Amino acid sequence: MAYKIAILVGSLRKESFNRRIAKSICAIRNDGLDCSFVEIGDLPLYNQDYDSAPQQPEQYVRLRDAIRPVDGVLFVSPEYNRGVPGVLKNAIDVGSRPYGQSVWDKKPAAIVTASPGAIGGFGSNHQIRQSCVFLNMPVMQQPEAYLGHVTDASFDESGCLKDGPLKDLVEKLAHAFHDWVDMIHRSRAALAEDSAREAQQREEQPA
Ligand code: FNR
Repeated sequence: MAYKIAILVGSLRKESFNRRIAKSICAIRNDGLDCSFVEIGDLPLYNQDYDSAPQQPEQYVRLRDAIRPVDGVLFVSPEYNRGVPGVLKNAIDVGSRPYGQSVWDKKPAAIVTASPGAIGGFGSNHQIRQSCVFLNMPVMQQPEAYLGHVTDASFDESGCLKDGPLKDLVEKLAHAFHDWVDMIHRSRAALAEDSAREAQQREEQPA
């Protein structure tokens, strides 16, 4: 069974390296990860007044509806000025509200950042991670994915990564992300079974 994964890309650029890396991850593990891109470029800027408005912006509803049913979330993003691009932070904020109704809660996640620069979006990566901690999303720890020196030459004509060290790392990452999502869902299912069994045993025991 393939896990349903929502991918959010923190770049709106047509030829985005990050989007192409996300595509490569999907292609590598398409047996175990059923990926869909959730578009975030049209989301109005988050405004807390919407939380109590009679009607939510339709783009907010679309984003939340797209995230709610998935088994995991993959963030793939550049770094802007050593931080998370506004478009992605906005999407994270939209999904987190109204208060108490966050669609991110408990979703296993992974964070990949890529840049032509040497440090591979480290700053952005950790800002996204910080939000995930608050949002109660278990984030994959290893392999860390600060993909540096990414250029057009890293990709083939189909838009996927060419063979080489970068692809090797992304392959490891794709497998690790599948295993991470799998471990979390299996553990939760096992815990739920244990609780159900214990509850049944309590019921069956004479008072
Ligand atoms: C950048 N870029 C950049 N790169 C980096 O490594 N660290 C940074 O802090 C920044 N800051 C930054 C700010 C802004 C406003 C822009 C437009 C760009 C360069 C960035 O990594 C590069 O443009 C990537 O190609 C963007 O990712 P996509 O669009 O290719 O996915």
